[in-house]
This record gives sequence, structure tokens and C-alpha cells, in this order.
Amino acid sequence: MILTYLSALLLLQCTGGYSDLLRGIEVPLYAFAGGQATLSCTYDLRATRLYSLKWYHNNTEFYRYVPTERNRPINIKPSHKFSVMEEFRNDARVTITLAQLRVSASGQYRCEVIAEHPSFRTEAKSATMTVLREPLSPPVLVGAREIYEPTEVISIRCQPRRPFHPDHRPTLQWFLEGNQVESEWVTTDPGAFSQEHSGISLHVPGEQVAAAGGNLQAECRLSLGSHHLSAYKTLRVRVRMISYVENYHSSGPGKSPAATFFDYLLAAASTALLMGRL
Ligand SMILES: *[C@@H]1O[C@H](CO)[C@@H](O)[C@H](O)[C@H]1NC(C)=O
Repeated sequence: MILTYLSALLLLQCTGGYSDLLRGIEVPLYAFAGGQATLSCTYDLRATRLYSLKWYHNNTEFYRYVPTERNRPINIKPSHKFSVMEEFRNDARVTITLAQLRVSASGQYRCEVIAEHPSFRTEAKSATMTVLREPLSPPVLVGAREIYEPTEVISIRCQPRRPFHPDHRPTLQWFLEGNQVESEWVTTDPGAFSQEHSGISLHVPGEQVAAAGGNLQAECRLSLGSHHLSAYKTLRVRVRMISYVENYHSSGPGKSPAATFFDYLLAAASTALLMGRL
């Protein structure tokens, strides 16, 4: 109880009163060897002036901006881990790009700002970035066919092209016509050999695809941090259009929850058909 009170007081001491000079940093969670990463540090000069802004990697300084040094305000230290370019700089933000990243560029990135005389107050924020050896590949779709019957359930498995380290495993998601598919049509499968090969499967009743006009665009998206790569497949179902308009109009209310996702597609398909018949 007393401890809670004390820590609340401490928090107030740290955050209250001062107007923060350092606003925040942006560091990507992941980057790839040989590739680039863009890092930003934002600050607020309303209460005080900036003496210096520095970037550190694993506590080693590699970038320094000192506004009062008129001739040489920027100091970039050469490094074998990456090359540094200043992308952008104004009174609120410094953005740098690290290129030719090595795996050893993984680690902690810290932006530190020091306020001008008289306070010389120091504020810092840090974030971790991991540089992976290999670039991402789009996921692989397994078990897809060219065409299905309306009576079938279309099942397609999506998995990463290669195994990932358990700490840096990408996530997989299914989308139909750009909408994320609800969990009732998606199953997560453990890998045949190990966890690293696990994937997710999509199960779409063929009749739903038929009701949407006979084809739907399916996308499996692999994401790692802010990096995304997709594999696409058009689901095609053999369809006699007329009977589906009749089915739709006779099915009425009280459908299963799964059906609601496709209601608008159904409606769109049958409207298009009706308009074609007029
Ligand atoms: C920085 O730290 C990370 C994590 O501890 C490590 O993987 C990386 O190799 C370090 N890099 C350097 C150049 O010290």
C-alpha cells in the first residue's frame, strides 16, 4: 500500500511539472541484412532550446546534431554495422536512414536529447530493432485447386516459405475480397515436423463463393513487424447463376452467423443479376 503510494509519487515527480523535450522515437521492430531502416526522433522546443540530439546503438554514439555548432552541426561516426544518412531535420524531428544493415546492427537504439543552458536536462528513449539474415518471402499456399463444386468446402493452407526463429515468427492472416476472415473459417495447424512450419488454413463453403458470383479473391498475408507480404488465389466455383438468386430470395432471415459476412456479396450478386434480367 505504502509502496504503491510512493511509486505513484515518484511517477508524478518524473512526469509532472516538466514539459517534455523528447516527444518520442520511431524504430522498426525488424529490418533485413543488406536493407534499410528509417528511425525518427521527435522533440518539442516550446519550453527549452535544444543543445544536442544523439543516436546510440548499444550505447555507442553514431549520430550527433548540435544546433549551436554552426559550421558542423552534424557528426556521423562511421560504422561497419550500417551506413547513416540524415533523411530530414527540422525544429521538431530528426529522421535518419540506416542502410547496408548488418545482422550486428540488431540491438538497442536510443535517442538522447539535451536541453540548452541553464538546465542541460537529458531525456532519452530507446527501442529494440532486430536485423534478420534473410529477407521475407511471400507465404506459400498449399492444396488449392483451379475450380471447386458449390457442395465442397474449399480448404487452402498457408504457411511461411521457410522456418523462422521462434522469437521472430511472422503472423499469418486470411482475407477474402480484402476483408479479414473470421476465425470460424480459419484453423491454425501445427507444423507436420515442428512449430516453425505451422500455418493457417482457410475453409470456405463452396456455396458462399457461388453466391458471390462464382469467384472470390483470397489473400494470405504474412506480417513481421511493419513488413507485409501476401500470396493470392482466386477461389472459383462452378455455378448456375439463376438458381442462386432463387436460393437467396427463399432463404430468408435467421441465417447462421457465418452467413452475415457474405450477405452484402450475396445481395450484390443477386442485384447485378436482377438488373441484367430487366
Ligand atoms: C547489440 O546488441 C544486440 C543485442 O544484445 C546484439 O545482438 C548485437 O550483436 C549487438 N551489436 C553490437 C555491434 O554490439
